[in-house]
Amino acid sequence: MARRKKIYEGKAKILYEGPEPGTIVQYFKDDATAFNAQKKDVIEGKGVLNNRLSEFFMNGLNGIGVPTHFIRRLNMREQLCRACEIIPLEVVVRNYAAGSLSKRLGLEEGMPLPRPIVEYYYKDDKLGDPMVTEEHIAAFNWASQQDMDDILALALRVNDFLSGVMMAVGIKLVDFKIEIGRVYEGDFQRLVVADEISPDSCRLWDVETGQKLDKDVFRRDLGSLTDAYTEVARRLGIMPKASTNVTKPTLIN
Ligand SMILES: Nc1ncnc2c1ncn2[C@@H]1O[C@H](COP(=O)(O)OP(=O)(O)O)[C@@H](O)[C@H]1O
Ligand SMILES: [Mg+2]
Repeated sequence: MARRKKIYEGKAKILYEGPEPGTIVQYFKDDATAFNAQKKDVIEGKGVLNNRLSEFFMNGLNGIGVPTHFIRRLNMREQLCRACEIIPLEVVVRNYAAGSLSKRLGLEEGMPLPRPIVEYYYKDDKLGDPMVTEEHIAAFNWASQQDMDDILALALRVNDFLSGVMMAVGIKLVDFKIEIGRVYEGDFQRLVVADEISPDSCRLWDVETGQKLDKDVFRRDLGSLTDAYTEVARRLGIMPKASTNVTKPTLIN
């Protein structure tokens, strides 16, 4: 069998050409990076967990009519997705102050925000993903006004869905980042949630203890990242038998 074509290798995933036109395969690596890749490590099992978790969230979104790129999971580390033209923005939704918002505005981490705040960052590693406003987005033509309306609506729907799902298992959704892709269907185009939704791209805090269950565990050296992600998966009922003594995911294919 011929080796399939690698389209792109990023910090956390590899994209391969999919089996049919208009599809891609996302391969989830174990690599963890933070602070624009200044901090790096390999966290055994992270890719397997994120593949499963992203599948779970994307499936849930598809199920309530929020369009995503996700088609189906292929194996432990790979999922089949629709190929998109990625809008070069990181769309961040915040429910509680944390991270760069706390730093910028001097807000205590964990302070509830009066309403969800949506922020846009220009996706460019060389520039360190700078924050931009809708003025920049319109002026540089990264997205149209119609796109921006759709992106805001998608972001808020994802926020409502994810907040509810997480709250049901005793986890507070502090904030998250999504990427949006454009797909073409004949003469039409529409926007879908693309990339991944996982503890790499969310801040998740235990409601009772405030324990961090997301990539901040890696960023701030707070313990085992796989333990944190496994706990999220276990609470969501994703990892089979994880409630018994499974310390790390085992590869079965
Ligand atoms: N459905 C899709 N079609 C095309 N590109 C995608 C799709 N989903 C995600 N991507 C892109 O693939 C890359 C995923 O790999 P990742 O390791 O996260 O890269 P990066 O280091 O750029 O964040 C990202 O650049 C993301 O924008
Ligand atoms: Mg990425």
